[in-house]
Amino acid sequence: MDSGATNDPFPHRHLLGIEGLSRREIVYLLDRADSYANQPRGAAPLAVLRGRTVINLFFENSTRTRTSFELAAKRLGADVINMQAQTSSIKKGETLIDTAMTLNAMRPDALVVRHPESGAVQLLSEKVDCAVVNAGDGSHEHPTQALLDALTIRRRKGRLEGLVVAICGDVSHSRVARSNIYLLNAMGAHVRVVAPRTLIPAAMERFGVDVFYDMKRGLTGADIVMMLRLQTERMHGSFVPSIREYFHFFGLDYAKLAVAKDDALIMHPGPMNRGVEIDTEVADDIDRSVIRQQVEMGVAVRMACLEALNREARTSAAP
Ligand code: NCD
Repeated sequence: MDSGATNDPFPHRHLLGIEGLSRREIVYLLDRADSYANQPRGAAPLAVLRGRTVINLFFENSTRTRTSFELAAKRLGADVINMQAQTSSIKKGETLIDTAMTLNAMRPDALVVRHPESGAVQLLSEKVDCAVVNAGDGSHEHPTQALLDALTIRRRKGRLEGLVVAICGDVSHSRVARSNIYLLNAMGAHVRVVAPRTLIPAAMERFGVDVFYDMKRGLTGADIVMMLRLQTERMHGSFVPSIREYFHFFGLDYAKLAVAKDDALIMHPGPMNRGVEIDTEVADDIDRSVIRQQVEMGVAVRMACLEALNREARTSAAP
C-alpha cells in the first residue's frame, strides 16, 4: 500500500481498538506518552496540532475520558469542540451517521467518539474523512484506557512483560477489560480474570487468559489487581444476588489483597463504586493504589494518540 508505511511507527488512520496493534506500535505510543508525562507542569501549549481541530463527540456520560481528551488536544495546540449527544428517544443508527456527516462537513482533523453500542465508532469511522479515536464503544474496546493503564504499570514496575495481572469484576460488560486483555497479552503479561460466573463471557479462555471464580485463588501472587465497576447500565436483568453479597465475595479489601504480592498495585479505571467492587480504604491507600496516577497518565496517553494519528493524516494527505 503506502511505501512509507514500514518506516512509520504508527501506520493507522484511526485508533479503534488495541486488537490488531503490534507490540512495537504499543511501545511507540507508550514511549511518546511517557515523554509527555515527564513534561513540567504549566508548560506552554505545544504546536504539534496547531491549526487542527479535534471534536469530542460523546453519546455516553464521561468525566475523565472527555476532559482528558480535551486537555490533551489543547496541550498539543489544537482547537477543541465538545459535543454531548443525547441518545435517548433517537434512533441511534440514523443519528450517528447523520451526526457524523454533519461534523465531517466541518472538516475536523480528529473525532473522538464514545458510544453505548459496540461497533458504532468503527461504523462512524467508515463515513468520515478524518482520524477517529474510540473513547469507548459499548462493551467492546476502550483503547486509550488500556494504554494509560499500561503506562501507569510500566512507570511503577519498569515493565509489563512477565507480570501477573488480575482483572476482577464485571468482565462481561467491560470494554476496559477487553482492551487491557489485548494489550497485556501483546506485551507478554500473564492475564487472569476473576469474577462470578455470571460476569464472565462464555469461552473467555480463547482470549488467552486464565479464568478464576474465586478472589483468593485469582489474586494469589498477582503483581497488579485491576478492579472493574459493575456496569449496571449495560445489564439487562440481574447478574449478582445483592450488592452486599457481591462485595463480600468479590469486593477488594485488605483481607483479599493479602494473597497478592506484597508490592501489588491496585488499579481502577473509575468511576469507582466504593463499597461495591472496592473497599474505600484500599482505594485510598497511597502506597498501593495508583488510581490517581491512572487519571494523570490519561492526558499524556491521549496526547500521544492524537499526535500519532496526526502524523498519519499528514502522510496520506501528501500529494
Ligand atoms: C470506564 C468506561 O467508561 O468504560 N471509565 C473510564 O473511561 N474511565 C469504565 C467504567 O465506566 O466503569
